[in-house]
Amino acid sequence: MDGIKDKVKEKYGRVALSQESCCMPGECGCGTPGQAAEAIGYDAKELESVPQESILGAGCGAPLNFAELREGETVVDLGSGAGIDVFLSANKVGRSGRVIGIDMTDEMLAKAKNNAKGGYPNVEFRRGDIEEHIPVGDGTADVVISNCVINLTVDKARAFSEVRRILKDGGRMVISDMVTDRPAASVDPEKWCSCIDGALTKDDYVASIKKAGFANVTVLEERPYIDESDGRKIASIVVKAVK
Ligand SMILES: C[S@@+](CC[C@H](N)C(=O)[O-])C[C@H]1O[C@@H](n2cnc3c(N)ncnc32)[C@H](O)[C@@H]1O
Repeated sequence: MDGIKDKVKEKYGRVALSQESCCMPGECGCGTPGQAAEAIGYDAKELESVPQESILGAGCGAPLNFAELREGETVVDLGSGAGIDVFLSANKVGRSGRVIGIDMTDEMLAKAKNNAKGGYPNVEFRRGDIEEHIPVGDGTADVVISNCVINLTVDKARAFSEVRRILKDGGRMVISDMVTDRPAASVDPEKWCSCIDGALTKDDYVASIKKAGFANVTVLEERPYIDESDGRKIASIVVKAVK
């Protein structure tokens, strides 16, 4: 997997600078980022309430539809991109709550911080690689969310173990991600960066979460995404698990 992480950073750096769209291969015609977000479950009215530049159309589901955020909660969003789910979460947890977005791509962080300017005192963006160390203290978060990011990591087990570390006891992880019916025979770095070739099977994904020590691991939603030319069926799932 040499060089994959640098390629992921390069790709999402270009996406942040609007030099490349986030459409998956074969998905031409996905429309504006707002339309792409609505197609994966975001509410059009709620999208109007966040900075429009935070909407990249880069997710693969809408984890906040399942996270049941409450006023005052602390939320951490892994691979926060330009901040869409951070800002939506901030609107839900209110001034007594707080939301921390984590991303490893400098251009994304700069874009997200710019989007937060002026309006979001309870929001913070931090630089971090979630499969090395999430820059958040032990037992801090009530909720960890993530949208289409874990598949981009090489060491998913390490990422899940880091999520568990930063959650409070009883805290929940609610994430959208891509899965496949069988792994790629050989990895194409471009397809890894497009959230395809790094995808695990659903069984391996769930097993990896359980191995990290989570309880009540539940797949809440599953949608077919695309069929690859080699016959692999790629789907998006929303998974919830509890520490
Ligand atoms: C497909 S985009 C999703 C962005 C955002 N969640 C959304 O829905 O718009 C993936 C994001 O995850 C970030 N990312 C990928 N791997 C990461 C890692 N190991 N640690 C932190 N961020 C990562 C990328 O920089 C990029 O911003």
